[in-house]
Amino acid sequence: MSQQPDVFNHMQHLMLEIEHFEVANAADAEKFRIEFLGSKGKIKNLMAAIKDVPNERKREFGQAANAVKQAAEEKLAALKQQLEQNGAAATLDIPDLTRPAITIPLGGRHPLSVVKNEIIRIFERIGFTVAEGPEIEDDWHNFTALNTPDDHPSRDMQDTFYIQTNPSILLRSQTSTVQVRVMENQKPPIRIISPGRVYRNETISARAHCQFHQVEGLYIDENVSFADLKQTLIYFARELFGQDTSIRLRPSYFPFTEPSAEMDISCFICKGNGCNICKHSGWVEILGCGMVDPAVLDMSGIDSRKYTGFAFGMGIERITMLKYQINDIRLFFENDIRFLQQFKAAW
Ligand code: DAH
Repeated sequence: MSQQPDVFNHMQHLMLEIEHFEVANAADAEKFRIEFLGSKGKIKNLMAAIKDVPNERKREFGQAANAVKQAAEEKLAALKQQLEQNGAAATLDIPDLTRPAITIPLGGRHPLSVVKNEIIRIFERIGFTVAEGPEIEDDWHNFTALNTPDDHPSRDMQDTFYIQTNPSILLRSQTSTVQVRVMENQKPPIRIISPGRVYRNETISARAHCQFHQVEGLYIDENVSFADLKQTLIYFARELFGQDTSIRLRPSYFPFTEPSAEMDISCFICKGNGCNICKHSGWVEILGCGMVDPAVLDMSGIDSRKYTGFAFGMGIERITMLKYQINDIRLFFENDIRFLQQFKAAW
C-alpha cells in the first residue's frame, strides 16, 4: 500500500505539468493532446492505476483523476481556439476590417475620346465602319483629289502646315483625306466614318487651336440622295443631343461637295428660346456636309454615272465644348488633372 501516496502525488504533478505546458503552434497542441489525452497518454495510465488504490480511496481517486482529465481537455480546447484566432489574423494580415480602403488612382477617358467614341457608336449602329488615315499627308489627298487644285481659292480656307523641304507633304488639315484613300481602295457600297487629328496654322486662342479633331463620314452607293443625307443627320443629331432635337440645313460651299450645306441643331440648352451658347438664335452649328462632287468620285476611280454619295465632317472639340459647356479649347490640350477628372464618370 506504499503506492498510495505516490499515485496521489503523481496526480498533483500531472496537474502542474498540464498547467505549464507551453504551446506555440498547432504541432505543439497536438503533442500536448497525445502526451496527456492520447490512447497511451499519461491520463490513460493514471486511470489504470485505480486498480492499485485501496477500495476505500477509490472514489476519492476517481474524482481527482477526472479533474485532471478535465483540466487537460479544457487546456486543449483553449489552445485550439487561440491558435485559430492567431492563424486567421496571420493569413489575412488585416488589422482592422472597418478601416476605409486604400484608393487606387484610376485614370479616366479624355473628354474628346468620350465624345469620339459616342459618335462612332452612333454611326456603327447604322452600318458605318471606322477607317483611318495618316496625319502626315500629301497634297493630293488633302487638296487636289478633293477638287481643290493648286490655284483654287478655297485653299485659303485652311491655313496648312507644309513640310519646308517638300511642300507637297503636309500635316492634314481635314479628315476628308480619308474619303479619298478609301475610295481609291474600295468599291461601293462604301459606308465609313473616320475620326482623327488635324492641324491648321491658327493662332491659339480660347476658340481656335493649331491641332484639333474631326470625324468624317462618307456613304457611296447607287441612288444615294440628299434625302438619305438628311435622314442620317437627323438620326445622328437626335442620338447625340436628345430625341427632341431638330436640325436645319443652310446652303454653304465646300470644294468637294455639290450641293453643300451646314447643319445647325436646335439649341439643346435653351430649347430654342435663346441663350449664350446659341447667341440667342436658338440654333447651333454642328457640321458641314453635302453630296460628293462627281469630279471627286471620278478622280478616285469611282464611276460618277453609276454612283452617288454624301459626305459630312464635324469638329470633335466643338461638339464636346457644346455638350459639356466648356468655354476654352486650350483646356483639352493642357492635361490639367482638375479639368480631366471631371469626365471620369463619362465613358
Ligand atoms: N473638311 C471640312 C472642313 O474641315 C468639313 C466637311 C464639310 C467635310 C463638308 C465634309 C463635307 O465631308 O462634306 O471644314
